[in-house]
Amino acid sequence: MQQQTLLLLQLANSNSITTAQINILRDVLRYHEHKYYVLSTPEIADFEYDTLYKTLEKLEAAQAELITPDSPTQRVASGLIKDFNTVEHLVPMLSLDNSYNADDLNDWDRRCKEFAKTENITYSVEPKFDGASISLIYENDTLVRAATRGNGVAGDEITINAKQIQSIPLHAAFSKYGLQQVEIRGEVIMTKVNFESYNHYLQAQGLPMVANPRNTASGSLRIKDPNEVKRRKLDAFLYHISYKQATANFTLQTHAQELDMLWQLGFRSPNNEKRVFENIAGVIEYCNQFEATRDDLPYEIDGMVIKVNDLTQQDTMGNTNHHPRWAIAYKFKARQATTTLLAVEYQVGRTGAVTPVAKLAPVAIGGVTVSSISIHNEEYIKEKDLQIGDTVIIERAGDVIPQIVRSVIETRINSTPIEFPTQCPVCNKSLNKDENEAVWRCGNTDCAAQVVGNMIHYVSKDALDIRGLGEQQIIKFFEKGWIKNITDIYNLPYEVIEQEDGFGKKSIEKLKEGIEKSKTQPLHRIIYGLGIRFVGETTAKTLANNVSHLLDLKNYTIDQLQTLEDIGIKVANSVYQFFNTQKNIELIQQLEANGVQLQNTKKESLSIGALAGKTFLFTGTLSQLKRSEAEAMAEAKGGKIVSGVSSKLNYLIVGEDAGSKLDKAKKLNSVTILSETEFLDLIQSK
Ligand code: IVH
Repeated sequence: MQQQTLLLLQLANSNSITTAQINILRDVLRYHEHKYYVLSTPEIADFEYDTLYKTLEKLEAAQAELITPDSPTQRVASGLIKDFNTVEHLVPMLSLDNSYNADDLNDWDRRCKEFAKTENITYSVEPKFDGASISLIYENDTLVRAATRGNGVAGDEITINAKQIQSIPLHAAFSKYGLQQVEIRGEVIMTKVNFESYNHYLQAQGLPMVANPRNTASGSLRIKDPNEVKRRKLDAFLYHISYKQATANFTLQTHAQELDMLWQLGFRSPNNEKRVFENIAGVIEYCNQFEATRDDLPYEIDGMVIKVNDLTQQDTMGNTNHHPRWAIAYKFKARQATTTLLAVEYQVGRTGAVTPVAKLAPVAIGGVTVSSISIHNEEYIKEKDLQIGDTVIIERAGDVIPQIVRSVIETRINSTPIEFPTQCPVCNKSLNKDENEAVWRCGNTDCAAQVVGNMIHYVSKDALDIRGLGEQQIIKFFEKGWIKNITDIYNLPYEVIEQEDGFGKKSIEKLKEGIEKSKTQPLHRIIYGLGIRFVGETTAKTLANNVSHLLDLKNYTIDQLQTLEDIGIKVANSVYQFFNTQKNIELIQQLEANGVQLQNTKKESLSIGALAGKTFLFTGTLSQLKRSEAEAMAEAKGGKIVSGVSSKLNYLIVGEDAGSKLDKAKKLNSVTILSETEFLDLIQSK
């Protein structure tokens, strides 16, 4: 390959590569891409690669009929993806059974021997990559389709986005192994380094940072802008061949050989990480070894996967509905770290709840630096016997919020007990606590923390959704004395704001536009935005659906409120109190005087919709719609959103990575299960 590269470089510089050499040129480029992106051992300089790449582009531009879909130039995407089509997998993408310790693995070993009807089983062990699963189909050595896992049976077709992942070859010589069509499985991941640099980029652009590599990788696959996918520099490990159509004899007999084949074909398979063992004791030791050094890897793994090595034995053992019997995941324990509890700060929420937050000496745990952790309430502090100055053990499992596991009381020397405040840390008024509640609250509704919290809630995405007015602006405007309650939002002193740093004509225009738009938001968003205790989005919708004007709620008794769907005594009482407090009524009247629409304009159409009375539930991640949009569409046709699967449920709409709700609905037979696309069809047909 070196000689060919040199020759082509010379020819490229003299502009005399011929179309006859185009296939050699492509192979040379593929070779160097593999060296660079998979092996990380480039052999030529970037500009040399670019010279060859541009030559290929030029040849293809001159003679378009020479372009092949697996040419290195064919990763380039122009424009945005409109919609992702749903495609069926050739073989359902199953999940894995889990194990957590040596006992679990010994049990599994026994079961394997029973199912395989032999005592001689060899296991292949490899890392469990923490990313998003992907399926790739190659036909005649060319990548023809990439798809997300979806619900396991069908996923989203994301070929263009997969082509932005440089370690996924567009061309792989499966035919050398007698294979004409294959479906292979793997995991798209983001390395720790690329995660860091992507976050730096986001920070520099003033954009919100991403939380962890796994969510970023999985979110990336369904982004509509392929160039953004490319920017994220994702990687892919391919570890399983799920479907083979062979034209000639396919002779490989083990999983380890398949990993080796994938590696030889240019995939980043876990060929170097895998080990084969004759017995489960070796497997367990290797898992432990890997767990001890997981932080040294350049990417995140959350366990190991153990597979029966012999492919014929795999076939004999078969699958359950959920997972193959011949494979199991060994999940690593949550990561722990030790640090010092330096102090406790108290945050006051919009409902007056006071939450203690432990300030810790910063400590790295699984690639994230932790310096503060919520410690919930006074009882939690007592239960855990936490004291200031204590050495504490903290834990983070996956992307779960870190927790304090315990104080190391054995080494406690100079710690001081945590004195829960009796007065609000913001307004100094006395705190109070209901008998059956664990939280202390500030009862002063004029407390700055509550006032600001309420305003932030009012403008938030699921409430009035006022663009250009976020948490930071609300705090700033409050501190400046420009806003004291939500009605002031409609009377902002724009001339003064314009003089402020960070506000130009454009951002003021945007702000005005966002505020103006909020005046015609549907009534349920306003009810939710008022921040009435215990009134979430669903209750807000119920309330809105039962009135023609917001102030009609003034006329409801507690009993009447309780006759409404899903409203119990606690919620009814809270709603009643809110609408029987003069201050709140005045606030609502002021909102109306400022042009906020309090009429329920949609009430009529709701009951006569084509799907009137039908119940809907969404589960998993939708790809084309936001969950709130989809719910609004169902509701606009008279459908009702419910929160759980029961015999009363009519439609379950299943997105990506659906879980137990889908299983439950399947068992119930009476529920119609729809994909997102089928749901859209239903809505459009009605
Ligand atoms: S094998 C039928 N191997 O883990 C084959 N899966 O928790 C089943 N995963 O859905 C998959 N690394 O997305 C396999 N080395 C590996 C894996 C792996 C990560 C993912 C995969 C699977 C999930 C189950």
